[in-house]
Amino acid sequence: MTPSTDIIVIGSGIIGCAVACELGRRGASVRVLDDRMAGMGATQASAGMLAPYNEIDEEGAHLELTLRALDCFDAFMAGVTADSGQPVPYHRTGTLTLAFSDDAAARLGRLLELMRARGVAAQLLDADEVRREEPAVSPAARGGLVIRSHGYVAATVLTQALVTAARRYGVTFTVAPRVHTVRQHRDEVVVDNGTETFVAAHVVNAAGSWAGQVRVEGAAVVPVHPVRGQLLHLKASGPNLRRVTWGERCYLVPWDDGSLLVGATVEHAGFDERTTLGGMRELIAAAAATLLPEWHATVVGVRAGLRPGTPDDLPIIGPSAVAPRVMYATGHYRNGILLAPITATLVADALLGGTLDPMLSATSPARFGAL
Ligand code: GLY
Repeated sequence: MTPSTDIIVIGSGIIGCAVACELGRRGASVRVLDDRMAGMGATQASAGMLAPYNEIDEEGAHLELTLRALDCFDAFMAGVTADSGQPVPYHRTGTLTLAFSDDAAARLGRLLELMRARGVAAQLLDADEVRREEPAVSPAARGGLVIRSHGYVAATVLTQALVTAARRYGVTFTVAPRVHTVRQHRDEVVVDNGTETFVAAHVVNAAGSWAGQVRVEGAAVVPVHPVRGQLLHLKASGPNLRRVTWGERCYLVPWDDGSLLVGATVEHAGFDERTTLGGMRELIAAAAATLLPEWHATVVGVRAGLRPGTPDDLPIIGPSAVAPRVMYATGHYRNGILLAPITATLVADALLGGTLDPMLSATSPARFGAL
């Protein structure tokens, strides 16, 4: 049995790393367990978009959570950069959402109303303004909506910076077989991966799509399911897009080095993390319909990751009602990068400060039964 730590975090994706770093920063002794290196699951396939209004277009707890997350991103990035000493590409240059049909234009109008009611800066563009703003966009675009507060971050670089910062706070990262059982035993939790057991005062299940495979004794199975997303990496031969651009069937994220990430498929393929010809064809067709046909680009590669989906698309964050030493931080579906800082804060406040943020009522594991 490996000696006890305060907290074991299961999973070293962006969520596990952000949670571990925050817990370490606040003085806890933390061990992160995963069966592969940090950020090698869904995180490595993420385009790193920070775009709540593009992902959620109606009022409610989900929008509230993602907007709070966006609000704390500047401070989070400043902290990670300072604590790790590593620069992380991060841009808040806004998004341009394109409309190619009357229905899509009407939807942009409704989104604009929702944002105006919240006092958020956004601007509707007609077809000519779209082309002045982004000359590479297809002439079929009838208009667009610029949302200035949105942005993007290099998800893998950010995860590495979180690992560096966490290590500086004494966090240990252990690559070991996947954890399959968590048992509460008196004042401890025993975490078992079949070859080794680890003991801690608390455990955080941040295993993403695999969260349901971590069985907590006495608790129901976490209802997280994998939703594959494939992401195409293009390289522009001429001028790149200026800002993140949403077409009808894809989004496009431009990088300073001329890269353009095109995402993403939404597939129910179980735990299959491979890329497919069909996925590549879909993404190339979607990008070609969004941009000028003569836009010059080469294909650099394609990658795939498994988003952790939940029955209501909201993440599962908060303490277990049936195993009080177990905390969940999973099910972030399409918004893992955006929600990483707020998740870390909510989990650390609950575990170390004894404070349950009111937001946790919407993300509570108990909404799915005996969790
Ligand atoms: N956040 C975009 C996606 O999951 O594809």
